[in-house]
Amino acid sequence: TPRVFSGIQPSGGLTLGNYLGAMKRFVDMQGSGIETIYCVVDMHAITVWQDPQALQKQTRELTAGYLAAGLDPTKSILFNQSQVPEHAQLAWIFNCVARLGWMNRMTQFKDKAGKNAEKASLGLYAYPALMAADILVYHATQVPVGEDQKQHVELTRDIAAKFNHDYGTEFFPMTDPVIEGAATRVMSLRDGSKKMSKSDPSDASRINMTDDADAIAKKIRKAKTDPEPLPSETAGLAERPEARNLVNIYAALSEQSVDAVMADVGGKPFSEFKPMLADLAVAKLAPISTEMARYMEDPAEIDRILADGAGRARKIASPILKKTYEIVGMVGA
Ligand code: TYM
Repeated sequence: TPRVFSGIQPSGGLTLGNYLGAMKRFVDMQGSGIETIYCVVDMHAITVWQDPQALQKQTRELTAGYLAAGLDPTKSILFNQSQVPEHAQLAWIFNCVARLGWMNRMTQFKDKAGKNAEKASLGLYAYPALMAADILVYHATQVPVGEDQKQHVELTRDIAAKFNHDYGTEFFPMTDPVIEGAATRVMSLRDGSKKMSKSDPSDASRINMTDDADAIAKKIRKAKTDPEPLPSETAGLAERPEARNLVNIYAALSEQSVDAVMADVGGKPFSEFKPMLADLAVAKLAPISTEMARYMEDPAEIDRILADGAGRARKIASPILKKTYEIVGMVGA
């Protein structure tokens, strides 16, 4: 049976990249008759230092973000990772399946560890094995993510295949990454060659989901572009990363194809296109940030939703973990 799983780290605020590349698509997949399971991956967040109080706050804020974006906790399962210990338990088994050579190829580890990899945590290195466990402890078949997570989902398939091969079973499914739409890689507003990221030192490089209308409009007005007007056709965006990024954002926010957007805005100067994009972004994002703030007024309700989701998640995860233990040969499973 098809099943969707995805997760977002509560390590700082949500960006427009997270929203368009992940969260909005999670909401779009909900209610399609497929079971949808969405996670606040707090165990992944602590692979780099998180202040405990900030982690709590960010976990609740991310949950509020999911709800404000339209996630319905009666249609989807919404919970935080640490409340379902089966993730960490399966991750240990996968640590024993994954090979060092595979982990050494992970580009996200290399980026995050930087030059001084000796100082990175062991958890940061093992991070993709925990991600594989997140997915496979539900036998999830589809994982909606942005471009940057593709390599991790491919590793998940490698782990499933090696486990199945080593133990002579077909137990774990081959999961497909779902990387679709115009905004699978939203770029920095200051540099069209860099991903929009919550860790970029420049706040002007990103739109935060908590930015107010003025901040959103100002960041779009100041977004880096080349001096030419927009090309008349989509193909003309190929060598113009900043222009392409703004058009992609417009397409994703307005739920149109890039071609449809270009049919409207092709040939316009940025002095005309940027205000259109700013108006659209404010119209789409301001209601979400207002709703987020409203959810944050009742943290007890957020905690209740997470606990309820965790209970439902465990009902799925626990028999899959038990069966895995049996396959591996653990006595008492
Ligand atoms: P994280 O928390 O870095 O990002 C969450 C999601 O947002 C997407 N994303 C983007 N999409 C488009 N443009 C961008 N600029 C952009 N920035 C971020 C990411 O691709 C991701 O889909 N390892 C994951 C979290 C995770 C997970 C999982 C995901 C843990 N376990 C299991 C799927 C399944 C991560 O660090 O995402």
